Amino acid sequence: MNFTILTLFPEILEGYFKSSIMAKSIEKGLVSYRLVNIRDYATDRHHKCDDAPFGGGAGMLMLPEPLSLALDSVGVAGARTVFVTPSGRPFDQPLAREFAAETDLVIVCGRYEGIDQRVIDRYVDDEVSVGDYVLSSGEVAALAVVDATYRLLEGVINGESLVSESFEDGLLEYPQYTRPEVFRDAKVPEILLSGHHENIRKWRLRERLKKTLKVRPDLMEGLELNDEARKLLKDIVSEGGYHGFYTDGGSVPEKS
Ligand code: ADE
Repeated sequence: MNFTILTLFPEILEGYFKSSIMAKSIEKGLVSYRLVNIRDYATDRHHKCDDAPFGGGAGMLMLPEPLSLALDSVGVAGARTVFVTPSGRPFDQPLAREFAAETDLVIVCGRYEGIDQRVIDRYVDDEVSVGDYVLSSGEVAALAVVDATYRLLEGVINGESLVSESFEDGLLEYPQYTRPEVFRDAKVPEILLSGHHENIRKWRLRERLKKTLKVRPDLMEGLELNDEARKLLKDIVSEGGYHGFYTDGGSVPEKS
């Protein structure tokens, strides 16, 4: 898969592609990347890339001309083009899977207060936000999109790790422990030392339900749970202490 990223600050992104699993994936030929410096396409001698918004308002916008010329230059006609912006649709695991199915992904990093709408209308397929907060740099958001996407490509990481992690089946991950068995008076849950795989599997499912119910009750709504999970969830809710959909009037869904 090929990532093309248009940015005013390629140096922010460079280190990421040269490190860790990403660097290995590039070496293995699973990923390639290209950083396009939008400033190289500025048309005046000061390499100006921003100006004030028509109609007034705070801050500066990226000029349409350098960005359009940079986009024209990338030469991947028809490639899915993503603009990272806090006013985009939420980036999530299903969208990461969609992106991972593309051969080419072009990502535009905004700076200043944003980019001219005419560039969005002409070139952008997806406006994507990585969370309900404002970053000062589209580069940080672009890296979140690249990272969540490329790790889903075959051969990048162990397929089993992908299956059991948060969001893949709508639940958050269970808590994990490693050596030592006792760390500053805190013991590893006994069941994990028992060697009883079936009990461990069940405990992990229970913990995933508890964690999701506690910190992300919104994820539970509409989730298709199997009989085992529904029974565990009923037990957990009856123990009390949880707030949200299932405890404030909602009930554990019956199988559809
Ligand atoms: N640029 C600034 N904030 C952002 C956000 N939350 N998501 C995507 N791009 C951004």
